[in-house]
Amino acid sequence: MGADEPPVISVRTRLGVYSGLPFYRRDSYTISAATTENAENLALLEREIFPAKTYGNDVLDQKKFTYFLTRANAATLIARDKKQIIGYALLLFRSNSNVARLYSIGLSPKHQSHGAGRFIMQSFEAFCNEIGIDKITLETHKSNISMQKLCESEGYKMAYEISNYYADGSAALKYKKHIGLKGKTR
Ligand SMILES: CC(C)(COP(=O)(O)OP(=O)(O)OC[C@H]1O[C@@H](n2cnc3c(N)ncnc32)[C@H](O)[C@@H]1OP(=O)(O)O)[C@@H](O)C(=O)NCCC(=O)NCCS
Repeated sequence: MGADEPPVISVRTRLGVYSGLPFYRRDSYTISAATTENAENLALLEREIFPAKTYGNDVLDQKKFTYFLTRANAATLIARDKKQIIGYALLLFRSNSNVARLYSIGLSPKHQSHGAGRFIMQSFEAFCNEIGIDKITLETHKSNISMQKLCESEGYKMAYEISNYYADGSAALKYKKHIGLKGKTR
């Protein structure tokens, strides 16, 4: 990969292996695939976004980001403004299914509530659509009103509550969205 080329994402779903170059631009934001060079920055960002008191061991460190970026069946998309990485989304895939799970999404606190979260949601949905994913699922903290509003306004439906989900014992809400069968045939 040359210095100026966007990074490739390679994931396995029931349709096979998809290697693509996701790249989305809106206003001053861009979204593209993360690489291992971003793992340290992502871990710093993660600590800013998710308080360890609530999220405990679920807060991703550099080693876990590196694992997701190298060995896992996953896609990590990063959002940048003109200067730096401001947020990310991490999606997990299964080789025997066309369901993607949003494992994590976060914006640096000073970039929240400016539309970047919605842009990330719409971008990973576009990526999932491109690779033939039928459904996206995610969990969010029961008290996370911003995320719930964002999900509902993007067409996600609350499916059920999962008690004692987070490190602090609080519950999660499971959301799902069917995104159709617009993927490439191969
Ligand atoms: C949740 C999160 C990803 C949303 O991204 P964002 O960039 O802040 O949200 P956006 O500006 O794109 O707003 C999208 C919608 O979310 C809701 N929202 C955003 N900020 C909100 C706030 N402070 N209070 C209530 N609702 C809010 C609104 O419904 C908004 O739509 P609107 O602008 O049309 O009213 C972001 O706030 C974040 O990273 N939070 C901390 C980490 C986190 O909770 N991640 C989710 C884990 S599952």
